[in-house]
Amino acid sequence: MTGTLNKIVFPTAGLGTRFLPATKASPKEMLTIVDKPLIQYGVEEALASGMDEIIMVTGRGKRAIEDHFDISAELEANLKAAGKDALYKEVSRVARMAEVVYVRQKQALGLGHAVACAEHWVGDEPFGVALADELIIAEIPAMQQLRQVHEQTGCSVIGLMQVPSHLVNRYGIVQAEQQANGLLQLKDMVEKPPIGEAPSDLAIIGRYIFTPRLFELLADTKPGKQGEIQLTDAVARLAQEEPVYGVLIDGKRFDAGNPLGFLMANAELGMLDPKIGADFATFLRRLL
Ligand code: G1P
Repeated sequence: MTGTLNKIVFPTAGLGTRFLPATKASPKEMLTIVDKPLIQYGVEEALASGMDEIIMVTGRGKRAIEDHFDISAELEANLKAAGKDALYKEVSRVARMAEVVYVRQKQALGLGHAVACAEHWVGDEPFGVALADELIIAEIPAMQQLRQVHEQTGCSVIGLMQVPSHLVNRYGIVQAEQQANGLLQLKDMVEKPPIGEAPSDLAIIGRYIFTPRLFELLADTKPGKQGEIQLTDAVARLAQEEPVYGVLIDGKRFDAGNPLGFLMANAELGMLDPKIGADFATFLRRLL
């Protein structure tokens, strides 16, 4: 296999339609769980998984993401002068945590198209893809769980979780086969199948590692479900050519790109927060 795995693509150009009107003028990736935006959780997971070259595929109205990972000289100077050392450290840490390049997806043509926009910056190397609205809290970071199988096999690896059968139409769903070596090989996958027609209840949950061959397949993937160029369609073709493995992610996942998942994430992580957790738990108990 060519190259080491240190690049990761974050598609962040989506319109955030599941969270309107909140996402009309602000990126859904900047929605806050306790005191950090979703995209920062994603970047921290990538860094903890050894992927420190970050490619953000952005679009119109997503400037706040760039500003978040940029140095804010005025803010840093103010915090320093006011003696707010902890905040100063955190703000300057975020601005310097990663090398990020920003690529513009000029038209919202689908997730597959967004990933294809990163090709020039990834080159002929394996790379990760992470969807920041899927927040995954895990002892071993989700991308690291994928990396372990990639390092063992040199192949593409997709993160999976079991979902209730009445929700399969919200996800890419895989057909998997257990191999003698214990790995789960993906034979096929379908984007948002109708309930009752899904090949399984194993859903793709927004964590991927790909070989660069994916780019060639994306280049001639036709619009599929919802008229969009679907990443799942290109990966299904990849799985016909070379082994693609699935990993059942060990961790807690929140679909924080919609109001219910967002509130659940805030409730759960809010209760665990060392500073406000105890007071928040007391409040919640009283509320119930
Ligand atoms: C995308 C993918 C889908 C995957 C999902 C996970 O769908 O196309 O295969 O299961 O992310 O969140 P979206 O939610 O962007 O419609």
